[in-house]
Amino acid sequence: MDQSSLGARKLREVKQAKSGDSLKKRLISQFVKLTGISSRGLKNALDLQVRKYNWRFPNLPKEAEGMRLLHLSDTHLDGVPGLLENLLKKLDELEFDLVVWTGDFRYDKGVYDAKCLEPTFDLAKYLLKRSRVLAVPGNHDCSQTLESLEALGIEVLLNSGFEYSPGFFIGGVDDPHYYKTDDLGLALSKRKENDFTLLLAHSPEIIAQASREKVDFYLCGHTHGGQVCFPIVGLVYWGARCARKHASGKFEYQQMQGYTHRGTGSSNSPIRFNCPPEVVIHQLGG
Ligand SMILES: [Fe+2]
Repeated sequence: MDQSSLGARKLREVKQAKSGDSLKKRLISQFVKLTGISSRGLKNALDLQVRKYNWRFPNLPKEAEGMRLLHLSDTHLDGVPGLLENLLKKLDELEFDLVVWTGDFRYDKGVYDAKCLEPTFDLAKYLLKRSRVLAVPGNHDCSQTLESLEALGIEVLLNSGFEYSPGFFIGGVDDPHYYKTDDLGLALSKRKENDFTLLLAHSPEIIAQASREKVDFYLCGHTHGGQVCFPIVGLVYWGARCARKHASGKFEYQQMQGYTHRGTGSSNSPIRFNCPPEVVIHQLGG
């Protein structure tokens, strides 16, 4: 572990959440129970959609042409009964070259609980049998969770980065949303001039900064695409300090392209409306 990563870990531990479920989460759960919408909402939360996108970049190295990234985010597997089984079935049908997992591995917040992380560990072991897995932490993830995932073989990018292949740099930052322990400069510090740059972040909240730092491709999650959306109106709440147009799906920001994942799992309550959970394949170079 290099010094920068060690520093990021210490800072994260200092800021680690001390409380468990929020008042907002308890109120939402009560509302869902009282209105009787939970069974329909849970069915929707289990209805995983596979989405595939092709991305073109003027500076993508030739070796990366055709590379397929499996993008998972906000898996929260302990919060949606039956989701792991559905997810593994979907993944069995997909081909990919690298996994990127943009945080929020668990449903609950607060202190480390290995029991509630069991389905996450099962998913991690499955993925590692098929590919390298890169991850960045989210606002539900404490330091011990990251250590447990690393012990299994997941490569957690905590304000760090590396040359994945010639001319192709991948950086990852710590959570810019709740912990605010992200350090983009550090994450990109080993990048060579003119490297194609993929950045992994939990949320879309540092898009402007990343564009200034000449990131080419920005992958994130956190917003769940709204999770509960309304017909015609779409998403009304996305829980991140970003523009609505950057809160769900594909976006462009100046020269940078990016994708805000709509979430593989669900949080606050295991329900979804008009915003299905997703598994995403990003194919580079068309
Ligand atoms: Fe999050």
